[in-house]
Amino acid sequence: MMTAVKNASGGMATPWSKARADFPLYTNGRRKIAYLDSAASSLTPEPVLAAMDAYYRECRANVHRGMYAESEDAGARYDGAREKIAAFLRAAADEIVFTRGTTESLNLLAYSLSRKLGPGDEVVISIMEHHANLVPWQQLAKERGFALEFIPLAADLTLDMRAARALITPKTKIVSVTYASNVLGTVVPVRELADLAHAVGAVMIVDAAQAAGHRPIDVRELDCDFLALSGHKMLGPTGIGVLYGKRGRLEALPPFMFGGDMILDVRKEDSLWNEVPYKFEAGTPNIAGAIGLGAAIDYLGKLGLDAVRSHEREITDYALAALAKIPGVTVYGPPSGSDRAGLVSFTIEGVHPHDAATVFDRQGVCVRGGHHCAMPLLRELGLNGTLRASFGVYTAPEDVDALVAAIIKTKAIFNV
Ligand SMILES: Cc1ncc(COP(=O)(O)O)c(C=O)c1O
Repeated sequence: MMTAVKNASGGMATPWSKARADFPLYTNGRRKIAYLDSAASSLTPEPVLAAMDAYYRECRANVHRGMYAESEDAGARYDGAREKIAAFLRAAADEIVFTRGTTESLNLLAYSLSRKLGPGDEVVISIMEHHANLVPWQQLAKERGFALEFIPLAADLTLDMRAARALITPKTKIVSVTYASNVLGTVVPVRELADLAHAVGAVMIVDAAQAAGHRPIDVRELDCDFLALSGHKMLGPTGIGVLYGKRGRLEALPPFMFGGDMILDVRKEDSLWNEVPYKFEAGTPNIAGAIGLGAAIDYLGKLGLDAVRSHEREITDYALAALAKIPGVTVYGPPSGSDRAGLVSFTIEGVHPHDAATVFDRQGVCVRGGHHCAMPLLRELGLNGTLRASFGVYTAPEDVDALVAAIIKTKAIFNV
């Protein structure tokens, strides 16, 4: 039974109905859609667009370099966004590095941290990692000779913590896991893994791409050393992301890219790096993107992250209950009642996910079909792909109803 998301007449109640009006894809879009692909990229609300537009119109200049008012204004907005993100993660501003997204943050970590790794060392990840948290470690393992270990899943598709305890040993130098699986919705007990990692002196990294903006995150409580997120998955613009690092860890980490603001002094024979976080921000950054991400955090703050989480949870439960009633539909994910991200992966017996997604599109239902950049997980599950419906602050029960109608239509077309 939906409570907080539906009013007595079955329409949407505030604040979600109000939120929906803020998203131009609903108000100005080319057609009426049920947008169910938020795990790939969320929609962007008006205040985020307005903040970026204001930067371009009011103080379009580079940051940190100009000695004039417009540049100082741009710098203040850019570093102001850094402070908002710091508060959002309960971190300090100098622990926030702007990147292009989770993929870049994780590549930066893999390249910089693995410089000290070699034969005999181990990096532990899980079998449900997105390729962004798998392929960099895999390729560097081949180059440097360290081993890559995978924490498996338990039968109920939660992370097998017994196996994790056995895998994390004094040989382990890095543990890098997703906070929430982009395929299964499984939420990982990150703090427990951080304790296991720290007990053997390993570095703990969290891929928060599917968690940030969907639940409150306190990096001190998680006790992770590093955390990566993407702006475009949390109502922000594309091309901007964050790498959080404990200050001491960032200071000890060698830079990954060279040039621009990351430099303090250059001589012919050597160079001196700027202080953190600038040491990791080479070249002109995505100024408008950072400002937009700051505005997204303001927007989420007004809704309240606890409220966002329970809204997405209720929509997820509504979807799980609706899909369970359709013959031939199989849902993949942890059992009901477990902590879950706001997404549902499923298959329709006898229909390839790509074919189903194409039929859905004709009904205005936007979902993702395929391997979701998690091929080892799909192989482990014995699947060539799934359909994935994923939710955001603007998702309404009627979107899930449209999905159910699209599934029934697809079954009729394919005669299954
Ligand atoms: C769990 C997870 N990690 C990493 C990524 C990569 O994010 P981005 O493409 O924004 O770098 C994604 C994107 O889907 C993801 O779901």
